Amino acid sequence: MSDGKTIESVMEEVRRFPPSKEFSEKAYIKSMEQYREMYRQSIEDPEGFWGKIASEELHWFSKWTNLHSWDKENAIIKWFEGGKLNVSYNCLDRHLENGRKNKAAIIWQGENEDEVKTYTYQQLHTEVCRFANVLRSLGVKKGDRVSIYLPMIPELAIAMLACARIGAIHSIVFGGFSSESLKDRIADCGSKILITADGNHRGSKFVPLKANADVALEKGTSIEKVIVVNRAGAECPMEPGRDIWWHEEMAKADRSCEPVWCDAEDPLFILYTSGSTGKPKGVVHTTAGYLLGTCITFKYVFDYHENDTYWCTADIGWITGHSYIVYGPLCAGATTLMFEGIPTYPQVDRFWNIIEKFKVNIFYTAPTAIRSLMREGEKWPQSRDLSSLRVLGSVGEPINPEAWMWFHKYVGNERCPIVDTWWQTETGSLMITPLPGAITTKPGSATLPFFGVVPEVVKDDGTKAGVNEGGYLCITRPWPAIMRTVWGQHERFKEIYWTRFPGKYFTGDSARCDEDGYYWIMGRVDDVIKVSGHRIGAAEVESALVSHHAVAEAAIVPVPHPIKGEAIYAFVTLKAGVEETDQLRKELIAHVRREVGPIATPEVIQFCPGMPKTRSGKIMRRILRKVATGTAEELGDTSTLADPGIVDVLIQGSKALHRK
Ligand code: WT7
Repeated sequence: MSDGKTIESVMEEVRRFPPSKEFSEKAYIKSMEQYREMYRQSIEDPEGFWGKIASEELHWFSKWTNLHSWDKENAIIKWFEGGKLNVSYNCLDRHLENGRKNKAAIIWQGENEDEVKTYTYQQLHTEVCRFANVLRSLGVKKGDRVSIYLPMIPELAIAMLACARIGAIHSIVFGGFSSESLKDRIADCGSKILITADGNHRGSKFVPLKANADVALEKGTSIEKVIVVNRAGAECPMEPGRDIWWHEEMAKADRSCEPVWCDAEDPLFILYTSGSTGKPKGVVHTTAGYLLGTCITFKYVFDYHENDTYWCTADIGWITGHSYIVYGPLCAGATTLMFEGIPTYPQVDRFWNIIEKFKVNIFYTAPTAIRSLMREGEKWPQSRDLSSLRVLGSVGEPINPEAWMWFHKYVGNERCPIVDTWWQTETGSLMITPLPGAITTKPGSATLPFFGVVPEVVKDDGTKAGVNEGGYLCITRPWPAIMRTVWGQHERFKEIYWTRFPGKYFTGDSARCDEDGYYWIMGRVDDVIKVSGHRIGAAEVESALVSHHAVAEAAIVPVPHPIKGEAIYAFVTLKAGVEETDQLRKELIAHVRREVGPIATPEVIQFCPGMPKTRSGKIMRRILRKVATGTAEELGDTSTLADPGIVDVLIQGSKALHRK
């Protein structure tokens, strides 16, 4: 992408879906005029706008002294400086006194249909206090890091809120990541506690979390204690002195625990995410701005009303789960449904079954899930009563208009607005998104910026792109929930996000803005691949491949995939004398799964004698992308290659693979 001046866009979508009158009347934001007016105020008077919302939506032990500051030079961002608050207090305690004590906070649906647990706000409060006391008894203090490697069980939310209660910083590692990935993430943040489970079932597979964790801890780490949840009743060796059972510790723990007064800018959590280069970076989110951002977007974008049942199908191991299963909804006093299983087990109507069973009103999912269920046919959603649904949401990657229309027609029954929400791990909260009672949607567009967000599409040289001209998506000023730093590497934060276009936050995405000011996200421009909406760094998969003894060099590129959106296509050059066999292909795939995790499994491995490189030795991924997608005839100028002959060899190799 960086070889070209602008980015070409080929999409044209003419369908429009305005909000219905009935919906708008009951919504928080009822009209385009109201949206425009509030947006204007959020930009012209951020102090007034955010000050008011922060006083109304959050509970403060003591008020802030300075609403917002931004040291552009050093990329130091602060919101609500001097304010004191506690996230778990905001998500739990205050609801005990405002009439929500016996309201369901979390409804948990286990993988098995008959396994359901409901936690009222009072019950959740009690569990969180007890677990906070467990952590305290193990010596965890404010500012300490706690790593969490759990399946989608209530203990995960309890552990997060317990950390927040005592000011400890959690770092959740998605259960689909390997031991290696877990080890790296523990080492980077130096956590002293690890919370995991014996294991969990996903469809017909068993994920041995504790065994994976044991491998991660083999060679010695900063971890002092491992707290293990007995989820599966699976065999689970416990190391004396290090490993302890969750249920045994909880049985001893007291039910009351005073929340720690945190500063608005104290870190709340670290979440690792992949970028263009090197190891994953620890995205740091802080207390007040993050909580406010997630809470207010949750309320306005999903238009949450008091008796709604809200369901986000993401895993809490990703930012979507942090912000929109736990913090946003609980801060807003909502009922949030948490699902342990997968969409296709025991059969492909699991989502529709759950919506019918709990009368879900707001349903937030990912394009990859929609596409895979769409393939199974509309008879599945049609055979369930989905009439409780009011708002639908999509996140994680661009949603193709075909999937959007299917979602609209067969899930929303042509009644429910779809909010296609664009945001990132780094942004903390929703950024470009429809407001369902105010903004007319266009399938495939994330529409307009949320309050306080100023997007700008710029060209290679940093000047503003024209209407419908593709370019790099930047945000020109900080918003409350923006990440504050990369854990332990502030320079990296500056370099990755603030230097490509000085003074602007660079998202890594390309986009265009149409004649109505609507944004159309076109995809990543860096070496990040979105597989089923999960963010995979090319560099990580490549270094995993190269760590195999047979491999000399590797490069991976995305190829379009009908369900996953993008899949991984790997080019691999073997060491001299190693034979190119299918057996080796399988071995390399297993190796990547072990090193990074199953989500990074390459779809295709093409062996090649060399890579297309510039004379300075840089791999030209642009060429590899075209070879992988079978569009090599549009290669254009290859004269800058050190060895132009390699291109033909690659094309032949790719064709041979396709014939197989
Ligand atoms: C990247 C961020 C933020 C929640 C989940 C992913 C892509 C996300 C959309 C959308 C088009 C989207 C972007 C972004 N993305 N939502 N609605 N339309 N693209 O978080 O793993 O940090 O990934 O996901 O490329 O940069 P993430």
